[in-house]
Amino acid sequence: MNETIEVLIGEEEISRRVKEIGAQITKDYAGKAVTLLGTLKGGVIFLADLAREIKLDVFMEFIKVSSYGNESESAGKVKLEYPEKADLAGKHIIIVEDIVDMGYTASWLCNYLHGLNPASVKLCALLNKPERRKVKGVEIEYLGFTIPDEFVVGYGLDYAQKYRCLPYVGKLRME
Ligand code: IMP
Ligand code: MG
Repeated sequence: MNETIEVLIGEEEISRRVKEIGAQITKDYAGKAVTLLGTLKGGVIFLADLAREIKLDVFMEFIKVSSYGNESESAGKVKLEYPEKADLAGKHIIIVEDIVDMGYTASWLCNYLHGLNPASVKLCALLNKPERRKVKGVEIEYLGFTIPDEFVVGYGLDYAQKYRCLPYVGKLRME
């Protein structure tokens, strides 16, 4: 099968939006240090660009969770892969996610982090696919773009580990 990619959100549009989100975070957290908690691996490219648009003391941490099962069986099971124990107590944490899809990952992360006694926890996501949501009440404080129910790749997002380094977000088509 042939894989083709159609641009959905271009490089300049992403860059503009990342600058706006960075400025908003800079304003909202004025006088504080923020800890960006990137989700491996999808959130890495977004985090790298966003971090440089926040004019505050920025710390970076990373977390890896896997969600397994599919929609018909054992959907929504999330497992922590890394780190075994995160030291985030007292920190202002902003989770930096590539995409909120069904919402299991983001919801699990928020619950998990609240148990570590941080000063605050907010969610920042590059993309949101609200049509696919299964978990109610996932609040995205900082959002790049809302997209339709399409499988997308690029700017951190992958298909079978490919396409993460594309500078744009594109729809993946199998032909
Ligand atoms: P959720 O738990 O269903 O919200 O899943 C979120 C995770 O699924 C994301 O962090 C991505 O790793 C992956 N994912 C969901 N939709 C897409 C997509 O369109 N392209 C690539 N990865 C996706
Ligand atoms: Mg992810």
